[in-house]
Amino acid sequence: MEKIEREGGAGAVAPAPVTIRRAAPGDVQGIVVLVNHHARLGQLLPRSLRSINSTIDDWLVAVVGGEILGCVSLLRYTSGLVEVRSLAVGENRQGLGIGSKLMQELIIVARKRNIPKLFALTRVVGFFERFGFKVTDKAFFPEKVWHDCQQCPLRDNCDETAVVLDLLAE
Ligand SMILES: CC(C)(COP(=O)(O)OP(=O)(O)OC[C@H]1O[C@@H](n2cnc3c(N)ncnc32)[C@H](O)[C@@H]1OP(=O)(O)O)[C@@H](O)C(=O)NCCC(=O)NCCS
Repeated sequence: MEKIEREGGAGAVAPAPVTIRRAAPGDVQGIVVLVNHHARLGQLLPRSLRSINSTIDDWLVAVVGGEILGCVSLLRYTSGLVEVRSLAVGENRQGLGIGSKLMQELIIVARKRNIPKLFALTRVVGFFERFGFKVTDKAFFPEKVWHDCQQCPLRDNCDETAVVLDLLAE
């Protein structure tokens, strides 16, 4: 995978270059810290070390100075249904383009894997729309609803929006 390096924008906390790359087993601890921090803030579902470790080939990380400051993963339900999961950028590094670089690279990976469609349940709809995702109905993703939503305390008052990106459409 191509490494992407960029400088932070004006007022950036991190002037060091950002590298977006496939995750490696040594990244698992950094990913779990990042994801579960955002999970405690109610922004993401938590992920266990074991689940990250067993899906490490499906993760991308954003690294600055050896530190993992961003991550995202593909979570496969069926060959035709793959979720963008656990997208997070460290709180003091947001707004520097790291999330966008992760999404752009994830879409490249999804295309290389011939994934026809990506979906997400999200509160940051505007962010996903920047990459061509369209708002859709959660009812189109029964596997997701069955796997995750049944256990969620917010299931009857879900404030997340389903978005989908058709990778075969272009
Ligand atoms: C959402 C998130 C990953 C974006 O990462 P980021 O590195 O801050 O995003 P970028 O700097 O690449 O932002 C790119 C653009 O998206 C915009 N954007 C960021 N968050 C947005 C949001 N919530 N809604 C709409 N647009 C948003 C930015 O304003 C920026 O626009 P600009 O270039 O015109 O200034 C990050 O804010 C985050 O980790 N949030 C908490 C966890 C979360 O909610 N994850 C999504 C779960 S589905």
